[in-house]
Amino acid sequence: MNTTIETLPTPCLVLDEAKFQRNVTNMRTRIAQRGGTLRVHVKTNKSIDATRRILDDGAPHRIMVSTLEEARYFAAHGLGDITYGVGIVDQKLEEVARLIGAGVDLKVVLDSAHMARKLGQRGRELGVTFKAYAEIDTDGHRAGLQPQDAQLIEIGRILAGDRGSQLAGVITHAGGSYECRSISEIRAMAEQERSRLVLAAESLRAAGIECPETSLGSTPTATFGESLAGITEVRAGVYVFQDLVMAGLEVCRIEDIALSVLATVIGHQTTRNGIITDGGWMALSRDRGTAQQAVDQGYGLVCDVDGRACGDLIVTSANQEHGIVAERQGRAVDFARFPLGSQLRVLPNHACATAAQHDRYHVVEGREVKAVWPRSNYW
Ligand SMILES: Cc1ncc(COP(=O)(O)O)c(C=O)c1O
Repeated sequence: MNTTIETLPTPCLVLDEAKFQRNVTNMRTRIAQRGGTLRVHVKTNKSIDATRRILDDGAPHRIMVSTLEEARYFAAHGLGDITYGVGIVDQKLEEVARLIGAGVDLKVVLDSAHMARKLGQRGRELGVTFKAYAEIDTDGHRAGLQPQDAQLIEIGRILAGDRGSQLAGVITHAGGSYECRSISEIRAMAEQERSRLVLAAESLRAAGIECPETSLGSTPTATFGESLAGITEVRAGVYVFQDLVMAGLEVCRIEDIALSVLATVIGHQTTRNGIITDGGWMALSRDRGTAQQAVDQGYGLVCDVDGRACGDLIVTSANQEHGIVAERQGRAVDFARFPLGSQLRVLPNHACATAAQHDRYHVVEGREVKAVWPRSNYW
């Protein structure tokens, strides 16, 4: 492509290729050094071009998706080992069966004996064997059973005892790591995630039920965890772009954040000390994930067009199509630095949420736009 960033219509999503590539390699190396196997969660990137880069870098050809649209999209692009990571319900099983019938090794997740029974029954009716993970709650964050809940053994027996279903293993996601306050807390959370998942697998095995897989992960625990004893795969997704929440957790540095929203200055509010841009919440998302962290980044940290952070300039408020940029501590804004029509780049609080506001990435090296990578949004 023969385009530069200055010619892009704003607001739009910009991906710094070199930073993305570095993040990809760092995590792949980190997991390999610990003797683990990575399953990339593609809900962050939702792009076959981005995912191909991750796989070309050496990540195993196995992915997790968060929607059936992602499953369809990545399967259509030739990826055959997919885990659908959001609790399965009856209404979605026909679509899952269709993908399995098309040759995709698509696995689902559940945490109730009710759904385990349903899975076997619908599997027989639809002529497939559904593979399911039992979800384990290792941090009180979201879904899943406690590792020693008697229902886990019941689920294992139901799945193993029906030709329409099969137990793939146990799975957990330590989303609670996002609320940790220090690296040592994240490290402890990673060990808790690991040990509780292994405990669940062992209680199934002690009951005579085969439990082949033990799958865990989040970007913070994948980054700082140490032992992977008893674990067959580590999942992570947001690490490929990183974001301000990850920087607040010290999972990455601000300079590692590969994703930004390019916006144009459309006004100066000199009396109220704010720069107005065309990057409102439709472009940035409403995510305020740093609000509870030590450094509140508003709706995003402001960089110049080359991606260098502009001190304490943040997006302090956002309307649908207007972003208000001001100094974090209310100091005077240097309006001369951002004349009307000039561009700036806003780093996201939460990369998944910001990227989901857009249908493509403009992949840049410096100011040169090297490629456009479409995304597959929605459900
Ligand atoms: C089930 C599951 N696994 C893995 C991940 C990846 O975690 P992260 O986004 O921190 O990389 C997520 C993210 O929400 C998830 O829901």
